[in-house]
Amino acid sequence: MLSEYKPIFLNLEDDDSFASERDSKPTDDSVTTFVFNAHHSLAIEAQRDRLPIRKYRDQILYCLEQYQTLVLVGETGSGKSTQVPQYLYELGWHTKGIIGITQPRRVSAMTVADRVANERGEVLGDTVGVSVSFIDKYSESTQIKFMTEGILLREMLADPLLQKYGVIMIDEAHERSLLTDTVLGLLKKIMRKRESLKVIISSATIDAQFFKKFFTIESKENSAVILSVEGKMYPVDCFFLNEPCADYVKETVATVLKIHEKEANKVGDILAFLTGQEEVLDVVQLLNEHTQQWTNNNLQVLPMYGTLPNADQLKVFFSAPKGTRKAIIATNIAETSVTIPGVSYVIDCGFVKMKWFDSNSNTDTLAVIPISKAQAEQRAGRSGRMNTGKVFRLYTEEEYSKLPAQLPPEMKRSDLSTTILYLKALGIDNVLRFDFPTKPPAKNLLAALELLLALEALDNKGTLTQPVGYFLAELPISPMMGKMLYNSIQMACSEEILSIIAMLQVHTVFSKPSTGQGQITARVKKREFEVAEGDLITLLNVYTGFVAAGRTKEWCGQHYVIYKNLKRAYELREQLAKLCRNKIGMPLISCHGNVDVIRRCITSGFFPNAAYLHHSGVYRTCRGNREMEIHPLSCLYTIRQPQYIVFCELLHTTKPFMKEVTVIEGDWLTELAPHYYVKRGVRYEDR
Ligand code: CDP
Ligand code: MG
Repeated sequence: MLSEYKPIFLNLEDDDSFASERDSKPTDDSVTTFVFNAHHSLAIEAQRDRLPIRKYRDQILYCLEQYQTLVLVGETGSGKSTQVPQYLYELGWHTKGIIGITQPRRVSAMTVADRVANERGEVLGDTVGVSVSFIDKYSESTQIKFMTEGILLREMLADPLLQKYGVIMIDEAHERSLLTDTVLGLLKKIMRKRESLKVIISSATIDAQFFKKFFTIESKENSAVILSVEGKMYPVDCFFLNEPCADYVKETVATVLKIHEKEANKVGDILAFLTGQEEVLDVVQLLNEHTQQWTNNNLQVLPMYGTLPNADQLKVFFSAPKGTRKAIIATNIAETSVTIPGVSYVIDCGFVKMKWFDSNSNTDTLAVIPISKAQAEQRAGRSGRMNTGKVFRLYTEEEYSKLPAQLPPEMKRSDLSTTILYLKALGIDNVLRFDFPTKPPAKNLLAALELLLALEALDNKGTLTQPVGYFLAELPISPMMGKMLYNSIQMACSEEILSIIAMLQVHTVFSKPSTGQGQITARVKKREFEVAEGDLITLLNVYTGFVAAGRTKEWCGQHYVIYKNLKRAYELREQLAKLCRNKIGMPLISCHGNVDVIRRCITSGFFPNAAYLHHSGVYRTCRGNREMEIHPLSCLYTIRQPQYIVFCELLHTTKPFMKEVTVIEGDWLTELAPHYYVKRGVRYEDR
């Protein structure tokens, strides 16, 4: 039966170049959207009929008539995103207003919109439309509109009650990104004022009750309901370790081999969860070293992670040759983002990688931490889709009992400056009292308010300033970057700053060959672009070189830079330039490569991230005096250390590391941000 599975290919050009972009400020998210169709060979109508959600069509519509909020639970692939909007349309719900559906990522919005238009035999942009940042395909006749959460937020700026929508579906709400939570909080406000607005929240099982509670209005009966369209779940046997294990990578390898040996006469694939791509590749390599020695190799080892090329991701969906078992070694992408058929055994390492924001140091920390109980259940459940399953937890029962019920959503562990900008732009003055689904820590809110004040996006009363504050709120880039862009117009270097910003939006542009010799050549080639002024000017050099050479693939190949990413940077730059012209109405100006002007402009935006070289030889932040180091990937890592620098990002892995660093003059701090720094002796301190 498994061999029937056929892949479908996304008909989007360059789809994985969008992979990391949520439609808002950049995040480190790198999960690609992946779609797999088990009934590809059937006619569209037959495909639609076979989806698990089909049986619930009437119930969905009934619930939505009776309740204002419907929380819809169902696993990936059951038909939530593509079918629900069509069911509503088929019953004429669009006459009450557009049917809007948000997705957390641009690629999902575009692929799902494309699929729905296809199913309806139409082209995208007619009844079915899509809007993600920088791409709009909709028209007057659009009734079903897919978009990212960021777009819905920006639509609220013009239409605070979302009057043109009759139903809004927030898809994949369990991801609980900053934007999801912000949108949910705002929707709740809107729904109080507009009782006719219906909201569908699509969610994984574990969060359904939470969403229901959030949208329940005490005074009103029938405000929210949960409907589960989950397929049948078979029982799952749980096995724990007797003793804690020292190395879950090795333990995973041993467990895969043990399952394969002990369950030799049973069918069923193995799915192992690890925390990141590197661990996944380690396990794959260790397993391959074993299986290569077998005379009859009947174990097919496959990696699965977000940045894996689509063609390789596809392999996990094909059934292995007869008599062969698959072992899929995955990151937590396989928890909810994709459903892999045929899995009977799950191995759970018990950990997850997560980013935390620390408001004391204004740092993001990337850490591997124990998972929550809910996550442990979700992982285990992946084994019971086709038949009874088994989960092997690489921790003891006692360790399990100490796991937290849930891990905090992004709202509790992120920098909030962008969120606050949005809320302020929507006229929500008291952000401390805003009804977030999960309250962010007050000190993170205060840190964000302070930063916005420093950037002059807010005034002393906490009101959004005109024009700076509004300009920053409307731009899809971070506030510091936005301020740098704003200043670049006055400082006459906006052409260069735009290029730098566009380059910072894409993942690294430097390619990393897998062979030793290739790596050395790539390093030498990168050196050719590197300059003593730092990483941002280096990026500008790459971009300028690319454009001057006619933006060709050949040039990229010769210089070991990634064509796809540079092309994307070029497109992003075009779009940002257009936005700038529209919002500020000023021409773009070039400083013709005057590096001092560019560095001063960078300082005028990133001054809160300034650091100086302490006499101990370690950098410290000018404000707060905290120690940090230059990231090994920075071009300034190996050269003589400059006295003053500004950085774009601070990432705490083993230590706090400054990324994307630019060399500046200390005097520029007091000159360009006199409200923030004053000169004391030889040091610049906060006022
Ligand atoms: O939202 P959910 O994960 O519940 O499912 P969906 O995105 O509505 O997809 C339902 C089914 O439609 C998938 O299982 C695929 O068979 C098919 N599909 C497709 O073939 N191509 C797409 N771009 C999206 C969905
Ligand atoms: Mg979906």
